[in-house]
Amino acid sequence: MERYLTRLHVNGMKAAIINQYGSSQELQIQDVPKPEVDTHDVLIRVQAAAINPVDTKVRDGSMKLLLFGSFPKILGADCAGVVEAVGLMVTDLQPGDRVVASVGPTGGAYAEYVSANEKFVAKLPDSIEFAQAAAMPVAAGTALQGMRDKGHLRPNDRVLINGASGGVGTYAVQLAKGMGAYVTAVCSADNAALVRQLGADVVIDYKTTDFTKLPEQYELVFDAVGKSSFDACRAILTDEGTYVTTIPSPKQLVEQVVTIFTKQKAESILFSFTREDMNWLLKQAAEGKLRSVIDKTYPLSQVAQAHDYSETGRAKGKLVLLMD
Ligand SMILES: NC(=O)c1ccc[n+]([C@@H]2O[C@H](COP(=O)([O-])OP(=O)(O)OC[C@H]3O[C@@H](n4cnc5c(N)ncnc54)[C@H](OP(=O)(O)O)[C@@H]3O)[C@@H](O)[C@H]2O)c1
Repeated sequence: MERYLTRLHVNGMKAAIINQYGSSQELQIQDVPKPEVDTHDVLIRVQAAAINPVDTKVRDGSMKLLLFGSFPKILGADCAGVVEAVGLMVTDLQPGDRVVASVGPTGGAYAEYVSANEKFVAKLPDSIEFAQAAAMPVAAGTALQGMRDKGHLRPNDRVLINGASGGVGTYAVQLAKGMGAYVTAVCSADNAALVRQLGADVVIDYKTTDFTKLPEQYELVFDAVGKSSFDACRAILTDEGTYVTTIPSPKQLVEQVVTIFTKQKAESILFSFTREDMNWLLKQAAEGKLRSVIDKTYPLSQVAQAHDYSETGRAKGKLVLLMD
């Protein structure tokens, strides 16, 4: 291990790559060069990496107009591991540190090593396992930023969380409860016990009940799974209530502009990693106030199966890849 490096070229590593867009069958485990480490970068020996639904959208090409870069691509945004080396200008991390990182959807987290700018890396408290941490950045960060920054959630607010049993939703339920809100969770009956355990006060089964037709009103509807709409939720928002979605459609974006001038608001969230938020989330986890619900773990070699399961839309919490 080296303490300070300006650029590092070392041998190969195993990574899950795609050579073209397509189905999960495009994911292959190959030997590729280890990533380079620039002056502000941290080289991480990855122990666990999250599967986020956006990874499957990058893989199948749905995001090709937004994301540039050539093939082969190593997918994966979120990972946790141990610092192997740091660039010359990195002063607050050192080899041996346990860390979590979020490097964007083509950032290369499905690999034995990842190089991340120090801005996207946070130190991990000893009590938090790698899989627990790797699951967090995008999903927990989206829940936090969606409800706090876009939804302006306050203590005693009533919040309805749609998709409460998914990756984003399982964090949202815990965070909303922690913020002092009264939480209504929408999920299928099979996941009712899980979301109650996480802190939901009321659970609505979306398969038998249309929550938008019920009489209750909410200061915030957080559509973690992006399956409803501002229009559909207007009647269940209070006069100054806000609808926040994780999946903005063109119609939603128009509504966001129009509702600048109305009391009820339509909003969407686009996750942006900050060390400050990550450290806060890790502190919540270290204090036992937030946990990652991990549905399944997979070895790197089964990344295609992990993508197939993610694409069923049935994951309960997070899916995590574990490196050998
Ligand atoms: N904008 C951003 O920055 C951002 C960040 C993160 C995620 N996202 C997006 O947000 C979406 C959700 O992410 P995620 O990680 O939570 O996904 P996920 O983990 O794959 O969500 C799966 C969960 O969704 C539930 N679900 C499926 N259909 C539902 C419906 N009609 N009503 C209520 N619940 C339903 C499922 O529960 P049942 O099995 O009980 O149906 C399952 O537990 C994804 O499309 C993702 O790409 C956006």
